[in-house]
Amino acid sequence: MSDKIIIFDTTLRDGEQCPGASMNLREKMEVARQLERLNVDVIEAGFPVTSEGDFEAVQRIATEVRGPIIAGLARCVTKDIEAAAAAVKPAGERGRIHVFLATSKIHREHKLRKAHEEILRLAAEGVRLAKSHNKDVEFSPEDASRTEPEFLAQVVETVIAAGATTVNIPDTVGFAVPEQFGALIKYLKDNVRNIDDAIISVHCHNDLGLAVANSLAAVQNGARQIEGTINGIGERAGNVALEEVVMALKTRADIFGQLRTEVHTREILKTSRIVSRMSGLHVQRSKAIVGENAFAHSSGIHQDGMLKMRETYEIMNPVEVGWGGTELPLTKHSGRHAMAARLEHLGFKLSDAEIGAVFVRFKEIGDKKKFVYDDDLSALVDDSMMPQDEGWQLQKLDVSVATGQPPRASVVLSRDNESSEGNADGNGAVDAAMRAIDAVVGRSGNLLEYNVQAVTQGHDALGEVTLKVDFGDGRLITGKGASTDVIEASARAYLNAINRTFIRRELGEPAQGV
Ligand code: KIV
Ligand code: ZN
Repeated sequence: MSDKIIIFDTTLRDGEQCPGASMNLREKMEVARQLERLNVDVIEAGFPVTSEGDFEAVQRIATEVRGPIIAGLARCVTKDIEAAAAAVKPAGERGRIHVFLATSKIHREHKLRKAHEEILRLAAEGVRLAKSHNKDVEFSPEDASRTEPEFLAQVVETVIAAGATTVNIPDTVGFAVPEQFGALIKYLKDNVRNIDDAIISVHCHNDLGLAVANSLAAVQNGARQIEGTINGIGERAGNVALEEVVMALKTRADIFGQLRTEVHTREILKTSRIVSRMSGLHVQRSKAIVGENAFAHSSGIHQDGMLKMRETYEIMNPVEVGWGGTELPLTKHSGRHAMAARLEHLGFKLSDAEIGAVFVRFKEIGDKKKFVYDDDLSALVDDSMMPQDEGWQLQKLDVSVATGQPPRASVVLSRDNESSEGNADGNGAVDAAMRAIDAVVGRSGNLLEYNVQAVTQGHDALGEVTLKVDFGDGRLITGKGASTDVIEASARAYLNAINRTFIRRELGEPAQGV
């Protein structure tokens, strides 16, 4: 058995299922390109049958991203498998179809209403159909950890006989505990006759906070692929955080022996930041590996120890995961060329028109702020992601706040070279700005989440606002905006959410949202 652990990233599929994490095509492409630089082995790019947007994203990633295997998810249903096959086709030999079917008693009886024999038949048929399109086929018995082990072994043997090259064992509801999950993998290794004809994979959810421990127990018992997401984003409590399993394997080589991944660990922090920006999901400060405090030492005793010898309180070198890189900030005097070169270095692939749009914002910010850091620039890219001709643009914002009077806002928005003005009062300055935008756009959103963060340090720091809005159809739409002024950043974020939903709908494209 090989010692290599295959890293299967499902940030763009399972991660994107997280409420409010929905990304548009441009955002998905940025994440996929960074995953390529991180050198993951497999990118699950989406669930192609679910929407035109998902299909297009998988197809574009299969066409443009080189290196990793590109997988598309499908139920054991003909139309799903055919959509996945068509979407991953541009990847050629690197295409994978990932089919799944629930196998646990509770899913069989209450969700699928199917008996054992039917499950076995559907699983085999699904794998055979996928195999007729593609050599590389993965099968997942959904809710495997709650499936009777004897039946699970039967399913695994059947799908391998039908042609599955990887069999994934999901802990779909995060119910497993490490010893038992490790034992389940060992049981399959010992009891499935053709087990060596496929790679065993695991896919752990984090409902009990055990996803990393379960994944590690699985590889100690013979699993050779780990599925997870960057920053651990995903349904409910999320999926296993890939950066955590990768660094656990590397840091505790004394326990895991020769088991290794081929992830370029110095790209980890950058990947975490890109996923956080693109998905609008912030990383908690004390999150392992990538949280702001992961390598910060505040107590005097710790600082003293660190100064004497770093290893007294640090088990990993932060540089190994991408912390501490020096960045030379840009200033208002930097030209378009220097800014474009920095954007390229940061991993953004923008068209000329998009660079132009970011440059306009860069100059505005450069006038207000002495240094424009890499994080500032990334925030500006986010802010300018919507192509110029597709959405409303903020031309002017005026907000007045006076004691004893309701805050009042006036905005000028433009679209298709036409400008319109809107005015409104509000409960606060942000509310007034949003209502003034509503007056122009003719829609009204209910603000459900609002988050503001300083992108860098200092009194002139750029404020980045991420908000989630419901425009009346129950979906959470994420909007992002950045400015040195938080009211303006809020107005930009709200407008971004409007553009991501209504403009796309008017253009006949599926709206981006959950
Ligand atoms: O959690 C799960 O069971 C899944 C499968 C589709 C692999 O995401
Ligand atoms: Zn999952």
